[in-house]
Amino acid sequence: MRSRRAALTLLVVAVAVAFWIVVGRPSVPSSPEGSSDPAPAELVDIPLTSIVLGDPFMRNVAEQPGMVHVALVAATARLQLVDGVTSDVYAYNGQVPGPTLELREGDRVTVRFRNELPEPTTVHWHGLSLPIDSDGSPLDPVLPGEEKQYTFTVSAGSAGTYWYHPHPHHETTSQITRGLYGAVVIRAPDDPLPASYTERLLVLSDNRILADGTFDLTEPTTLQGQIDHQNGREGGLLFVNGEIVPTLDIRSGEIQRWRIVNASASRVYRLAIEGQTFLHVGSDGGLFERPVEIDELLIANAERVEVLVTGTGAPGSTAVLETLPYDRYMPQTRPADWDQPRELLTLRYTDAPPVTPDPVPETLRPIPYLDPAQASATREIVMAQGMINNRIFDMDRVDVAALLGATEIWEVHNVVGMDHPFHLHGFQFQILDRNGVPEPFRSWKDTFNVPKHETVRFIVRFADHPGKWMFHCHILDHEDQGMMGIVEVT
Ligand code: C2O
Ligand code: CU
Ligand code: CU
Repeated sequence: MRSRRAALTLLVVAVAVAFWIVVGRPSVPSSPEGSSDPAPAELVDIPLTSIVLGDPFMRNVAEQPGMVHVALVAATARLQLVDGVTSDVYAYNGQVPGPTLELREGDRVTVRFRNELPEPTTVHWHGLSLPIDSDGSPLDPVLPGEEKQYTFTVSAGSAGTYWYHPHPHHETTSQITRGLYGAVVIRAPDDPLPASYTERLLVLSDNRILADGTFDLTEPTTLQGQIDHQNGREGGLLFVNGEIVPTLDIRSGEIQRWRIVNASASRVYRLAIEGQTFLHVGSDGGLFERPVEIDELLIANAERVEVLVTGTGAPGSTAVLETLPYDRYMPQTRPADWDQPRELLTLRYTDAPPVTPDPVPETLRPIPYLDPAQASATREIVMAQGMINNRIFDMDRVDVAALLGATEIWEVHNVVGMDHPFHLHGFQFQILDRNGVPEPFRSWKDTFNVPKHETVRFIVRFADHPGKWMFHCHILDHEDQGMMGIVEVT
């Protein structure tokens, strides 16, 4: 994989040297009173010089097993996202996408984060269960030149694919557009899938970049700005791990395990490989109870999937992973080319003779049942254009007050004529039904699409981690416009 790397070495090294001298202080911790979470740990000494530019993984410098200490810097850089055109980007550790954070269940993690950007930012660990102080929500900005240590323990049973991205008030769209996003992979000690399956991580994103390399970020006063405001910003450049239509190798007969992250601001992917099915084995919060065979995969913004792809082609042949048309739009702002399939990557069969893979296990892992009869509250969440429950986000308002330990049912209605993907921070939940149709099997989710005029119900247990947690539409422009609320768990 050829990823996009920075030549900003000097800056990072200078910063690192400065920090050998001055130990950064974290931004103000906002530990809620009566929290059952421990107070933020003492600052851990993680040298910024441990950052390896261009390393596809964050480097763990902890000495004890079970501990993960990594350094992460967000800084400006100049990169070629499109061949031959240089862009001024925002990058984590000098690359777009940022380096992957690889963890194991039970790990005690500290990320030393430094903001070298000219504006406030945060690092949000999308989908992870962690203390509120480490959620990186808009309530916890890291100012330019400041540092914060994010600390958490990786919970048992959370093995899966997650991602991290900025979440500053009003500026999430522009910061992710400029290059700030990366994956988190959590591994289980008892992963049921054969280790012989080649694993691939595919981070999907899209962008609009002008001929001079500038990101086409619009003002709401322009026509394109109004379209972006409504649809969420989409671009015609489709990237997989920062590459346009990359080639992946597969051997005839082999099974590959793909982890896919939709890191796009608003594009929904409907993935298919012609003439071939997928075995869908997992979603946001990890593996299902058993594999499910499907022809295509719909992945809304911020969702993740795990699928098994079998190399059914002949040695030397090729296949294409496409995204098929999906109509999430209002008719007035639907893009003219919305009904065109797009190529995402080429699958190239090696010349090696076909192999027989290790069989796919019939069962993967048990997923606990959350009993709706135990729910102590049912919440109505109404998503309309730019608003939730008729209100615009207010950092000083609590929209939903929930009790620590309570099980609740949330009923999310989309009352308008375009899709809105709903996301809740900090807690994995289970979908009960969609428009009254029971979900066919249990899975852990943190994000789901709510199609036009539809209703989705989920059940959640606020088992741990008191604090003010965000819930919002994950079309980033909508989130920035205030399609977000706060559930305070006390
Ligand atoms: Cu992907 Cu509020 O987050
Ligand atoms: Cu999140
Ligand atoms: Cu929305």
